[in-house]
Amino acid sequence: MSNNNKVVFSKKRTWSHDLPISFLMQQGVENPGVLSLAAGLVDQNSLPVARTKEAFDHLFSDSKTAKEALQYGTTAGALSLRSLLLSHLTRLEQKSADELGITVDNIVVTTGSQQYLSLLGEVLFDPGDICLVAAPTYFVFLGVLQGLGARIISVETDESGMRMDSLEATLDMLESQGQLPRVKMIYLVSDYENPSGVSLSQDRRKQVVEIARKWSEQQRIFILEDLAYRELCYDGPVVPSIRSFDPTGETVILTQTFSKSFSPGLRVGFGVASEEVCAAIRDKKGNDDFGSTNMSQHILAVVLRENLYYDHVEHLKTVYLEKRDCMLQAAETHFSNMPGVHWVHPHGGLYVWMTLPESIETGFKSPLFQKAIHEDKVMYVPGELCYAVDQGLSGSEQPLVQKNHMRLTFGVQNLEGIEEGIRRLSTSVKSFM
Ligand SMILES: Cc1ncc(COP(=O)(O)O)c(C=O)c1O
Repeated sequence: MSNNNKVVFSKKRTWSHDLPISFLMQQGVENPGVLSLAAGLVDQNSLPVARTKEAFDHLFSDSKTAKEALQYGTTAGALSLRSLLLSHLTRLEQKSADELGITVDNIVVTTGSQQYLSLLGEVLFDPGDICLVAAPTYFVFLGVLQGLGARIISVETDESGMRMDSLEATLDMLESQGQLPRVKMIYLVSDYENPSGVSLSQDRRKQVVEIARKWSEQQRIFILEDLAYRELCYDGPVVPSIRSFDPTGETVILTQTFSKSFSPGLRVGFGVASEEVCAAIRDKKGNDDFGSTNMSQHILAVVLRENLYYDHVEHLKTVYLEKRDCMLQAAETHFSNMPGVHWVHPHGGLYVWMTLPESIETGFKSPLFQKAIHEDKVMYVPGELCYAVDQGLSGSEQPLVQKNHMRLTFGVQNLEGIEEGIRRLSTSVKSFM
């Protein structure tokens, strides 16, 4: 057989290449001794070993339930788990299922919330369709949208999350360009955004639903509310979800995960949407995997049912609070005397977003990143990855891409690692001041 036959990949293949997440993972492996403030892993020490073992023992103490878990499940997810998820949501929302307008049929269980994001992208976006996102936002979802050929348009963000005046102005501009019918979704990580740590204020949560409805005259503009960090709240107010301002569930699609609050190894997430959207997601999922890992779902169902979950989350919150304070204190110690350097104080989640003077770029190819990784042995996520690049515009027109930020996580390192990582990073930054 000849080796000269050219491989012709699909168009979609060409939209997903050189993913930053793969580069970051590779850098971590290829540079041993580097302290990573980049890796999005959760705290290793507090992973719930005993609780998960108890759940396994419980499940396997009865051969009937054990066999159910060892068998294939259903595309939408185990009914027992979906019922427990409904109670979980009513507890978090402090509202009844009726008030929320949700039944088990509105819930689809997925392999992490990442799969929900991806499935939803697949069923909503044709190439050229538009998603509006915060600047900055969760960069892996930007990759998903890019992989679908979607146009991603950034909306200005401040310390209260996405700015509603900028959102309206963007929709107005798109209407004047005849592009409004292409707008499918507004994506919001409303609690403790990855990467900025910022939460959307309560006023804006209500407003965004009104705005999405107002501009949905021709076709529905959905809000995708990604609540991945919802339960990791340390101080500051707990604000109702955007979904709670949309009792019919026609506008807001919500997704959550147990990766951050329990274990990413189980990789269980879920989404809540109208029946119409759920059906589309189930159909796509049916083609992809016809159901997420049944064993993980059954384990998580036991964890929720046997009261192994909520105490663990309370414990985790104390662990992460200490780590967050450690990072903020270290930043204060090592960066406070550097002019033009500032950072966000997050009330939850796993990230501290640090801003450097505009003259200091932080990207993979920047002198700062190179020095940090090769000389000072510390790694961060370059902030520019978290800004959408609108394929509809040329390079020089990209309005909101900023190159002088770093996402630092206090999730995976222990206290010494956080302190030492920040110290090393300050050495790198200082040399460019
Ligand atoms: C904002 C956000 N959404 C979704 C996810 C996906 O997490 P998982 O698929 O483990 O549920 C992550 C993971 O880091 C995230 O930061």
